[in-house]
Amino acid sequence: MAKYLVTGAAGFIGRSIAAELLKRGESVRGVDNFITGKRTNLAGLEGMEFIEGDLTNPQDCARACKEIEIVFHEAALASVPRSVKDPAGTNLHCVTATLNVLVAAREAGVRRVVYAGSSSAYGDTPTLPKKESMLPKPISPYAVAKLAGEQYMQAFSRVYGLETVTLRYFNVFGPFQDPTSHYSGVLAIFCRKMLAGEQPTIYGDGEQSRDFTFIENVVHGNLLAAEAPAQKVAGQMMNLATGSRITLNETFRILCDLTGYKGEPLYDEPRSGDIRDSLADIQLAGELLGYKPVVDFREGLRRTVEWYRQGSI
Ligand code: UD1
Repeated sequence: MAKYLVTGAAGFIGRSIAAELLKRGESVRGVDNFITGKRTNLAGLEGMEFIEGDLTNPQDCARACKEIEIVFHEAALASVPRSVKDPAGTNLHCVTATLNVLVAAREAGVRRVVYAGSSSAYGDTPTLPKKESMLPKPISPYAVAKLAGEQYMQAFSRVYGLETVTLRYFNVFGPFQDPTSHYSGVLAIFCRKMLAGEQPTIYGDGEQSRDFTFIENVVHGNLLAAEAPAQKVAGQMMNLATGSRITLNETFRILCDLTGYKGEPLYDEPRSGDIRDSLADIQLAGELLGYKPVVDFREGLRRTVEWYRQGSI
């Protein structure tokens, strides 16, 4: 029987966590409904027990959680513009699904749930860096949904004693991120386009900034969150990022070097629901988990470009 469950195991972040667990010799079960996850992402995860299931269905959640000790809840419709287009769909797959996972986890006697929170919860407030003590001000339906999930985590910790840990991710990127949808993360889209010699579009003036976080840092933080003592982390929420930010314009320039793209970007209207700047304070994750980033932005971007260059997608 598997010790770990990864939800969204056919997605970018879920498959990356599952791969690391398998590498460490752990027993892993994955669940995915393939709305945004990809079967091709399961390549290399043959050692994982896999359930094709939908977390909006409580029975699938019960099956997935059976005899599990630790859940990494990564499944979501992870896109701001998608939530603007379909807020009810985002609510269903981010909020209802998360509640179902918690109910099933509690019933199955799961010890800990580590949850993929989102920096979008902070909203478009001017204060940087974002600290966990700040009041959340979500501005997109996606941000509301991820925040609701966080609050369910805290409630289940307080009310039922389930050990829950929320990690607020800041713009995760890296190998296996789907570059083919217009809901994809910006770096995946830019890598694919620029390697193909296609012009990328920058929404707004390109001076918006992000704390882009390479996937290995996120996997590392998740494993620390699974291992940390309960008295330190149960019921807690913390940022998981690098603690530095870069603008889209600067990022575009670095990508020109890495990909050999010679053109200029196309500038278009800013995207609704977008925030301007994002930067994490990562002190709390340092204190509670002993977390510090293991791969910096440039090295992460270099590895990411190489992965896309090899045509893995
Ligand atoms: C947000 C959340 C993040 C969440 C992610 C899921 C914030 C700070 N972060 O990221 O926690 O995990 O959604 O998707 O709210 N852009 C372009 N051209 C493109 C695509 C995007 O210029 O082709 C721009 C966007 O307008 C935005 C920036 O790039 O200004 C980043 O966009 P994206 O990668 O979609 O992530 P966020 O919306 O920042």
